[in-house]
Amino acid sequence: MKRIQIINGPNLNLLGKREPAIYGDTSFDGFLERLRARYPQCEIHYYQSNIEGELIDKIHEVGFDFDGLILNAGAYTHTSIALRDAIKAVTTPVVEVHISNVHAREPFRHVSMISAVCRGIVVGFGLESYRLALESFLS
Ligand code: DQA
Repeated sequence: MKRIQIINGPNLNLLGKREPAIYGDTSFDGFLERLRARYPQCEIHYYQSNIEGELIDKIHEVGFDFDGLILNAGAYTHTSIALRDAIKAVTTPVVEVHISNVHAREPFRHVSMISAVCRGIVVGFGLESYRLALESFLS
């Protein structure tokens, strides 16, 4: 049984309600239920926080034991050297995900502090980005 941790950062608790034209109208809870049903061979853990330090604490907590970490750091992607250091500090591989195609949006979203220390990046496929990231841990 693979143990996978999904971590969502700031404002992603509002998925389904927040800017649906960009992020869709599906809540993360509903998506997660379908994902767990589709991948019974994985133990999929989920954590969301709007607080940078709490995201770092979660990376530390799971980052030496889990098989994979799927991280949507939200806007902290573009600013947080502390998150980058946390990813670098742990041994569990991290895949960076984004729901929207950040490269088709404002220039400040084109920069990621974390990409270089992640195993890979999945960007712009809606919630499907998380599933594709999960697949990368299974192959
Ligand atoms: C996001 C993209 C970020 O630029 C933004 O701040 C988010 C969501 C995405 O999933 O598309 O909060 O990470």
